Amino acid sequence: MSNIKVETLTELKASDLEDLCQATEDAIRDGIGFNWLLPPPRDVLETFWRGVLVVPERVLFGGRLDGTLAASIQLLKPGPSKETTSFNAVIGYHFVAPWARGHGLAKALLLAAETEAKSQGFSVITLHVRETQEAALKLYHESGYTRWGIMPYYEMVGDTMIAGHYFYKNIKPIMKIA
Ligand SMILES: CC(C)(COP(=O)(O)OP(=O)(O)OC[C@H]1O[C@@H](n2cnc3c(N)ncnc32)[C@H](O)[C@@H]1OP(=O)(O)O)[C@@H](O)C(=O)NCCC(=O)NCCS
Repeated sequence: MSNIKVETLTELKASDLEDLCQATEDAIRDGIGFNWLLPPPRDVLETFWRGVLVVPERVLFGGRLDGTLAASIQLLKPGPSKETTSFNAVIGYHFVAPWARGHGLAKALLLAAETEAKSQGFSVITLHVRETQEAALKLYHESGYTRWGIMPYYEMVGDTMIAGHYFYKNIKPIMKIA
């Protein structure tokens, strides 16, 4: 039986960085990889992941299948100037390498990011996803996210404009709504 594990990543040793870059490339080739259409050169990907680690407003979680880093999610916290939206954390960059899908990694990562958001005092999580990502749409719907809107001009993939679905979830009661 496969073993899944989710952890907060505050550093990436060389083998983990290699695995995460490989997972990212595989996900991009499979059809979605953040906003890349084709895998960028490996050094660009390495810089991307190292960069995530040094952004104070980002919490990076990694998902391992049988020890190999194969998935991740990020909790994006509002910066210090965002006083009026300081209750709202964003979940993004959620993906699992194609070979590691179907073992519960995406669900475990989502739960980890939500638990962190709750523990840091956030009340609402927002996220958005391409309308073509059926597995992700089902996951967010089944995890209690409410779709509040569809943006028709979300991403261009080749010559095709793809819509995006926008979701929110209340993770703590909101004290007062004007
Ligand atoms: C969406 C994605 C993250 C799911 O990863 P995963 O590890 O296979 O998902 P899990 O095994 O944790 O399954 C969790 C839930 O996702 C949904 N799901 C997963 N695979 C699915 C599939 N092939 N078809 C429909 N729903 C699916 C189900 O709701 C599932 O819950 P269930 O098993 O109780 O039915 C993965 O397919 C992926 O990386 N897709 C490309 C990137 C992407 O769409 N990211 C979304 C934000 S941009």
